[in-house]
Amino acid sequence: MSDVVTMDDLTNKEIVSILDDAERLVPVAKGDVPLPLLEGKVLANMFFENSTRTRMSFEAAMKRLGGSVLNFTSVGTSVAKGETLFDTMQMVDGYADVAAIRHPQQGAAQYSADAVGIPILNAGDGAGNHPTQTMLDLFTIREAHGTLEGLNVVLVGDLRYGRTVHSLSHALVRFGATLTLVSPESLRMPEEIVSDLREHGADVTETVNLDAALPDADVIYMTRIQKERFPDDDEYSKVAGIYMLDSSDMASAKNGMIVMHPLPRVSELHPSLDSTENARYFQQAFNGVPTRMALLCRCLGVKVPKKVK
Ligand code: NCD
Repeated sequence: MSDVVTMDDLTNKEIVSILDDAERLVPVAKGDVPLPLLEGKVLANMFFENSTRTRMSFEAAMKRLGGSVLNFTSVGTSVAKGETLFDTMQMVDGYADVAAIRHPQQGAAQYSADAVGIPILNAGDGAGNHPTQTMLDLFTIREAHGTLEGLNVVLVGDLRYGRTVHSLSHALVRFGATLTLVSPESLRMPEEIVSDLREHGADVTETVNLDAALPDADVIYMTRIQKERFPDDDEYSKVAGIYMLDSSDMASAKNGMIVMHPLPRVSELHPSLDSTENARYFQQAFNGVPTRMALLCRCLGVKVPKKVK
């Protein structure tokens, strides 16, 4: 099956091969080289929740490869009339060749994959998973460090509700990363995920202290506190703004350490950081285009040529 709902849908070998394809597709992603590999194919972008980068980079990826995109938002559609996810997805099955779906409910992507025949790419299901983000995160890490093997990665912020770190931690551990999980007590990585990481043989440390974790890091992955997933505003205000980095913090970083963030940022990254060599988050957002191109090709059974010119 060519759905990508969680990182379990991809073997390590497939991950590396998709990243290699993505690397060759960079000039196409930039618009420097035309390559209409997906001409005549249609992507349905099914966004039941807000998105800037994921939705636009899926669209850019499809269009740069000569394909076209049907854009769905839950505003202005029959969802407002009470149409179910099942029924909505039945329509998509007939209108498109592949669908990217983002939904506030955990499990919605798997439910959709089970309900339709076309390949489904999970673009974020509630506090569950976000595997296509993980693929671009891995691309960014490999681009900076030349490898995915054996890195020291510090995941910071909302590890409880943050779906990006749920998928990313799982993938990193499969490549032998050492993980430091930095969060307030109330936003720790769910127990079942931590024990799963340890069962995979991972070296995982949990702490509330970012300053202590910074000097040994190869990668610092900051995340936004996921306000929209909190049961009440009081709970959110207790942890809002808890971790922040600015350019002065880079003084204690190792050479070559990179700062990543799936974005949007709220207050986690001071703008003074943007012009430092460590900042990778805008490059990371661009990397969504070649990575999603490679993922779309895989789902549609289209081979990316060994030489792209
Ligand atoms: C993330 C998401 O939607 O989970 N954004 C993204 O896809 N780049 C992170 C977030 O919203 O905090």
